[in-house]
Amino acid sequence: MEFDIAVLAGDGIGPEVIAEAVKVLKAVGENYGHIFHLRQGLIGGIAIDTLGTALSEETVNMCKQCDAILLGALGGPKWDDPKAKVHPEDGLLDIRKKCKLFANLRPVKVLPMLSNSTNLKPEVIRGVDLIVIRELTGGLYYGQPKKQWRNSEGRQGVDTMAYSEAEIERIVRVGFELARTRAKKLTSVDKANVLQSSRLWRQIATEISADYPDVELEHMLVDACAMRFIQHPTEFDVLVTENTFGDILTDEASMLAGSMGMLPSASLAGIPKGRAFGLYEPIHGSAPRRAGQNLANPIATISSVAMMLRYSFELDVEAQAIENAVIAVLEEDYRTYDIMAEGKIKVGTREMGDLIAQRIKCQ
Ligand code: IPM
Ligand code: MG
Repeated sequence: MEFDIAVLAGDGIGPEVIAEAVKVLKAVGENYGHIFHLRQGLIGGIAIDTLGTALSEETVNMCKQCDAILLGALGGPKWDDPKAKVHPEDGLLDIRKKCKLFANLRPVKVLPMLSNSTNLKPEVIRGVDLIVIRELTGGLYYGQPKKQWRNSEGRQGVDTMAYSEAEIERIVRVGFELARTRAKKLTSVDKANVLQSSRLWRQIATEISADYPDVELEHMLVDACAMRFIQHPTEFDVLVTENTFGDILTDEASMLAGSMGMLPSASLAGIPKGRAFGLYEPIHGSAPRRAGQNLANPIATISSVAMMLRYSFELDVEAQAIENAVIAVLEEDYRTYDIMAEGKIKVGTREMGDLIAQRIKCQ
């Protein structure tokens, strides 16, 4: 089969991890007889430097013409001036919104051979296999008003956490549908003891649950959830939550899996089924201090390619082949710096990509 993929490498370690993901994608193409047409586009800081905007209209149109988007990472100190009119991150928020990718799936799996690579006790994290569904096009990231100004009391800043019934319903339904395919348990995370948008969220989640009698719904406050992630992470299966809560909780959850460099994500415009457009990116940032040194862990981006094959192309066997290859390489003790442990073999970004691509060709 043939597929068009928009590749937005971005800044910092973005281009390095994308190069390895593309290497793996090519290995899949060669091995399984698919053609992936890659179309490069600019996003983030590099787009600001070249085009004066974090995401151009042409790039958006190019992305929309493709079957999926593969994205690296964006941002860096060069563009961090709080007074700047445009920030690299605007490009990411824009592409998510313009493609209506409201459902961000972030699976967190603790691989047995990495349960010693974290700061947490192996017996606490062993067996963790959960998925956070983060609402991606609403909440604090987009709500209006959102601005800074000055008045007689000095400088002021405001962001708004706003959700409509329709926005909550569609993301909660994604949660229930996914829960149905797994352990039939859904944890809806909010801050309903304080926030109005959360009270509405909780009410709607409860109402929708009537359509899913086979799924057990549990409500949890976000602060308690942050604690439970460390205390009893194996209790969770599918979680659904607001944009900012999901952002914070998944960075926390990455520490269960060993590193931010391990967690992939898929951003979709609906309940995953059939061949659907999506954006695939690691959950980590551009790690400017690690850039250009062949250090970064490309596994999160490579695993995002696996999610792309599964959710956008319906290539389940090929997706599994990538996941198997990642596991095989880790079982052979190869580690990038972020998941390095005593007695393991340290490799760089390119070597990790080569190893995984080779394992795909062997399957
Ligand atoms: C993420 C990142 C982004 C976000 C940043 C880079 C804007 O942290 O994908 O989790 O906050 O959504
Ligand atoms: Mg984040």
